[in-house]
Amino acid sequence: MRKVCIQVEQSLGERLRQLLIEEELLDIEFPITKKNDLLFFPLRYEIPESQLSKFTHISKELKLVEKELEPFNRKPPDLVTALEGKLPVPLIESIPHSLDIIGEIAVVELDTPVTPYESVIGEAIMEVNSRVTTVYVKEGGITGIRRIRPLRLIAGKAQATTIHTEYGVQLAIDVTQTYFSPRLGTEHDRVTGLIQPNEVLVDMFTGVGPFALLAANRQPVTVYAIDINNQAIKCLEKSLTLNRLTGRIIPLVGDVRNIVQERLVGVADRVIMNLPHDAFSYLDVAAIATKKRGGTIHFYGITSQTQSLEMLSAEVLAQLTNQGYKATIQKSRIVRPSAPHENQVVLDLQVIPE
Ligand SMILES: C[S@@+](CC[C@H](N)C(=O)[O-])C[C@H]1O[C@@H](n2cnc3c(N)ncnc32)[C@H](O)[C@@H]1O
Repeated sequence: MRKVCIQVEQSLGERLRQLLIEEELLDIEFPITKKNDLLFFPLRYEIPESQLSKFTHISKELKLVEKELEPFNRKPPDLVTALEGKLPVPLIESIPHSLDIIGEIAVVELDTPVTPYESVIGEAIMEVNSRVTTVYVKEGGITGIRRIRPLRLIAGKAQATTIHTEYGVQLAIDVTQTYFSPRLGTEHDRVTGLIQPNEVLVDMFTGVGPFALLAANRQPVTVYAIDINNQAIKCLEKSLTLNRLTGRIIPLVGDVRNIVQERLVGVADRVIMNLPHDAFSYLDVAAIATKKRGGTIHFYGITSQTQSLEMLSAEVLAQLTNQGYKATIQKSRIVRPSAPHENQVVLDLQVIPE
């Protein structure tokens, strides 16, 4: 494409470049080219020769010349732009349903009508997000005791492991074998921001250990990080090395009920119990893990059209009373929507045996 450029001696190029930027004249979509000891600065629009006088204090040798230039290959600003012309317009508008970026891996939810275009969509996701090298599509909901979701590769490298950075901490994750949601980042940060030096924590459903790792990175604490999924604990062990946090976190594989009953009764200043869909089954375990003088429990649950936050709070307090604890709610909040008409919520509870 033909572009009008200002020609200048190389030694004066930087001064001219600064001035052209200030005047908003430099076209940054095109390269500055060089021939012998001359530089050519592409302009956003044509100017008359007379306007060169603005810059003649830099050099009297400035000239306007035309050059054949190719624009830089800039990545599209968003997915809709990247997909323009590649699939029917009405379909583009519904894409994607949801997109999570975990390290170098994108996990996308797509509606059935776009299935024939899924590899095109995967490529476009990589084009827009330059760090992404692998794209998986969700093939169902989160299920089972390990809380994992079936995924299918639609673009890029077949690689399920990655390193995701959350608040300066590197988290090793296998997206096909472990639970992880980048949407919980703010909550990981909030809870670990409450922790005091030298606390003992029990992270009952640690997964790949984001609460445990952020806590140990922030404060000198001892964290018992428990999960029934061996792969999740392997990821946590890798992160301990990556973040040089070995020693502050004790990773434990197994059923939390057995582990707490066998070795963690009465040890914790703080218990984190993030298993929202089955939280009530383990509230007694959380309570017995707290110290005799009392402790904090971060209880994650689900509210819905039939279970309001008030109802859930009342149920939690009633269960703790029945178990012989005096409990107060220090804070309650919606963490994120978890399904249509459902929210993941958290109660920060202070409990003390009666
Ligand atoms: C929602 S995920 C963990 C989330 C994690 N705390 C985070 O913020 O990313 C729940 C985890 O609990 C684990 N789990 C489920 N039942 C368990 C049990 N009875 N004992 C120990 N871990 C369990 C699952 O393997 C899963 O990794």
